[in-house]
Amino acid sequence: MDRINLLASLCEGSECVCDVGCDHAYVVVKALLDYNCKRGIAADLNVGPLSSAEETIKNKNLLDRIDIILSDGFKAISKDFDTAVLAGMGGNLIKDILSDSLDKIKDKKLILEPNNDQMVVRKFLMESGFRILDEYAIFENGKYYEIIVAKKGDITYTENELKFGPILLKKKPEAFISYYNRKMDLLMRVIDTTMDPLTKMQKQKEINDIISAIK
Ligand SMILES: C[S@@+](CC[C@H](N)C(=O)[O-])C[C@H]1O[C@@H](n2cnc3c(N)ncnc32)[C@H](O)[C@@H]1O
Repeated sequence: MDRINLLASLCEGSECVCDVGCDHAYVVVKALLDYNCKRGIAADLNVGPLSSAEETIKNKNLLDRIDIILSDGFKAISKDFDTAVLAGMGGNLIKDILSDSLDKIKDKKLILEPNNDQMVVRKFLMESGFRILDEYAIFENGKYYEIIVAKKGDITYTENELKFGPILLKKKPEAFISYYNRKMDLLMRVIDTTMDPLTKMQKQKEINDIISAIK
């Protein structure tokens, strides 16, 4: 399953999917067309992506079921929704958007795909009263993606769980193992080429952490 399809499938059966940073609105449109979601909100900070979103929504005859809103995060969103998608943005940006609107999202299902700093997002979720329900790892066009599904709940994660993902550590999907094997190869190459003993030591520690996490 490709990334957009996987994100949309995780919205299955939602009353209203709010896709923040929607760009072309592919996720919210697919969620309505293929995954039994009733309504949607396509939101983006920028006019260019929103006009692409409008085009996609119009082409699929969904203008009456999806609201198109120019919004910085959730700030301009006043309609209710039960599922929020934030995908393809940096982990720190996702954290900032969520923490700026905690009141609006605290009871919602969150589907998050930070393209870096996943640990920042997991830590924010834990500290803000969310628990991670599921996680996915996929490769698409040579790029590695992690998707986090979260909902209200109290839980404490270990440093290792925050770093690698509590569910990914349990499920160990193929893409996750292959991503960390590649990462270890790169770290090995640095160890082999660097003359700096401190760097060698740090990289070896990273490798040891990965081995103990994915074994
Ligand atoms: C790389 S695109 C990701 C598009 C889509 N979500 C996906 O996963 O394919 C990131 C989008 O986030 C939007 N964006 C960035 N900061 C934002 C913010 N604070 N609020 C809403 N949208 C934002 C950008 O304009 C851009 O369209």
